[in-house]
Amino acid sequence: MNIERIDLQNFRSYSYTNLTFSPNLNILLGQNAVGKTTILEAISMFSYGRSVRAKQEKELIQFGQEQSQLRILFNQRGKHVDMAMKIMQKGKQIKVNGVPKKNLSEFLGQLHVILFSPDDLYMIKLGPEERRKFLNLNMGQFINGFVDQLRRYNQLLLQRNSLLRMRQLGPLSVWDEQLSEAGAVVLYARKLFVEIIAKRTTNIYEQLSSQSECLQMTYKTSTKGATEAEYRESLYRQLQQSATSDIEKGYTTVGPHRDDLTFHIDDRVAARFASQGQIRTIILALKFALFDYIVEKTQELPVILLDDVFSELDVLRQEHLLTRLQGAQTILTTTYWGNKKELGIPVKVFNIAHGILSVEE
Ligand SMILES: Nc1ncnc2c1ncn2[C@@H]1O[C@H](COP(=O)(O)OP(=O)(O)O)[C@@H](O)[C@H]1O
Ligand SMILES: [Mg+2]
Repeated sequence: MNIERIDLQNFRSYSYTNLTFSPNLNILLGQNAVGKTTILEAISMFSYGRSVRAKQEKELIQFGQEQSQLRILFNQRGKHVDMAMKIMQKGKQIKVNGVPKKNLSEFLGQLHVILFSPDDLYMIKLGPEERRKFLNLNMGQFINGFVDQLRRYNQLLLQRNSLLRMRQLGPLSVWDEQLSEAGAVVLYARKLFVEIIAKRTTNIYEQLSSQSECLQMTYKTSTKGATEAEYRESLYRQLQQSATSDIEKGYTTVGPHRDDLTFHIDDRVAARFASQGQIRTIILALKFALFDYIVEKTQELPVILLDDVFSELDVLRQEHLLTRLQGAQTILTTTYWGNKKELGIPVKVFNIAHGILSVEE
């Protein structure tokens, strides 16, 4: 799979820009705050359906403008796909090959990316929210219907929480039924996904870590069960049992929105005990596992987006990374690029200075 071109209009710092990518290695080169990450953010909007860093989508619209537009052209197993997105103050519109789509799930699942970002470290160090975000974003890009189920769950959760705050116990069981149904779908999908990815991540971590340490990655939930139906029943019971204390707190204390993805190295919690180097290795192992999973599932190489992480590695590790990712199209951002020749692969460099691009091949 490779991205041929992306157009950005009134998207963050860009009034209008288009980039035509090489199928090999693309370098977005420029000083801080010139808009390098913005380009990776724009690309990943088409894989994740949302921004990886904006809290609210309207933040993406260029200051002083009403709306923002993105368009991407890519090649998916020899087929050209043209996707467009219009981001407005309220909501967004999406099109695939000129045809408007109502649901994100009709739009996702076509462009696959793996994003390496300096913020990945937070996933290990900070709270469960970052880890759930990792699951939600990545599962959404290739598990059919996941994003719609998650959205339904979140909407029901908001409604239950507002009932709790109004102290209305009566209608609660109706919501609990629907919430446990939607929650079980999300929970079960996550559990299956983590099982597959965890095994691979453990194996790759062992190869990467010189001390042959053992990494365990587990989906942690208070909901008991092994099948979707069991999760539904057990979640319903949990919701009913926690109703009184949830009313006191004013929010729902059980369900997949409270679950976690835990990492242990030799039985010690990585969040507390892992060194910076071990954390980087966990992230690398996790992303490589994701890469292998996507290749197997889609029979195609995903596009690799490397945000400011490449230049921190020495030439040997850079080579290792590129070899491991087996010739996938790569787009990376950096403030410095001095080792073009050593890598021995064709490189296209985009010099970026305050929204202006110039290209060397
Ligand atoms: N909505 C917006 N409108 C205009 N400029 C924006 C908007 N959001 C962010 N920016 C600007 O974009 C720049 C940051 O871009 P970013 O892609 O993070 O830079 P880099 O990765 O090159 O360091 C900053 O100068 C910031 O002020
Ligand atoms: Mg950046």
